[in-house]
Amino acid sequence: MMKKILCIYMMAILLLVGCSSNEQQNLIDNEQNNQSGTNGDANSNIDESGDGERFGANSYNTQEVADEMRYIEENIKPSEGPKKRILVTGSTAGLGELTAYYLAKRGHTVVAHARNEARAADVRRDIPEISDVVIGDLNDLDQTRQLAEDINVLGTFDVIIHNAGVYGQPSDEMLNVNSLSPYILTSLVNRPKQLIYLTSDQHLSGDIDADDITSDNPRTTYSDTKAHISALAMAVAREWPEIQSNAVQPGWVPTRMGFANGNTTTPDNLREGYMTQVWLAEATEPGSQVTGEYFFHQEIDRNFNPIVRDVAAQNRMLDAFAQKTGVSFTRD
Ligand SMILES: NC(=O)c1ccc[n+]([C@@H]2O[C@H](COP(=O)([O-])OP(=O)(O)OC[C@H]3O[C@@H](n4cnc5c(N)ncnc54)[C@H](OP(=O)(O)O)[C@@H]3O)[C@@H](O)[C@H]2O)c1
Repeated sequence: MMKKILCIYMMAILLLVGCSSNEQQNLIDNEQNNQSGTNGDANSNIDESGDGERFGANSYNTQEVADEMRYIEENIKPSEGPKKRILVTGSTAGLGELTAYYLAKRGHTVVAHARNEARAADVRRDIPEISDVVIGDLNDLDQTRQLAEDINVLGTFDVIIHNAGVYGQPSDEMLNVNSLSPYILTSLVNRPKQLIYLTSDQHLSGDIDADDITSDNPRTTYSDTKAHISALAMAVAREWPEIQSNAVQPGWVPTRMGFANGNTTTPDNLREGYMTQVWLAEATEPGSQVTGEYFFHQEIDRNFNPIVRDVAAQNRMLDAFAQKTGVSFTRD
């Protein structure tokens, strides 16, 4: 309401001073943008090169993520520790983009992943330090299979972070992006030294239902997909003991996904939402070299759904994934 009153007031002033209608609209748009900023400095993400808003603020990223990208750009320096080759899926926005940027600024060789060429161009512009970008829409399982081949052409990675995810989409899309694609990539990509899977505390109310996974009309919920990916992390740790494999729940943080359903605030800290992934990927600090754990904010969290550690449920899920995708999981 206040915005409307302010706009009418500004239009009246502009009419009096004789601005053109384009100028009037620009000034009003600027004023509205200033009001919608969350940090009192809404222009801080304007890219002075003329590319539009920096880091996708208020388009593919929230203002909070764009501000955090700026923080990383200005503050993070190369580490003295060993440098790694790291792939982050879904690194064109949100936690994935923050993780990729932080690790790239630390001096690691980071390969990003985008759903298409346009989003690949966005991440190349946002993170000039990125070494390469692989492309594939994870909702299209043929594209995911091709993506696995393209990743293998780049060689073997030290760390792969399965971060891409969707919320509030139709069940078949959530199953494809959040569960089946990470499974296909895990199975077909050269085994790295470490795998990190992004889950959610919503997995606590999720289930592993093999019949639903193989159904032509799945009714899979977001919570179910996060139970799947947590169980996948635990199954990999059990079946491939030479590989470090963990699940991370980042908290409810202000990314585009965190603001789904019209939320404008979230309870958890954005930086803590990606630093566990950074800490595990670097694996130089105490506690960061374990496997088969469920993490929240750099600590092992014991409050997980017991089904993700149930070996019979894991095996039913892996068999259902294999049946659904035609890709089998190699057990050692
Ligand atoms: N935010 C939270 O509060 C929260 C809480 C718990 C767990 N998580 C988990 O954290 C992870 C990252 O979420 P976020 O909050 O950073 O979400 P986000 O800002 O929406 O970013 C999601 C990323 O996944 C990519 N992606 C989605 N669908 C894809 C597809 N079909 N093909 C290729 N890439 C695709 C997106 O690409 P585009 O940019 O092209 O869409 C984007 O890069 C997810 O696994 C999510 O479930 C988040």
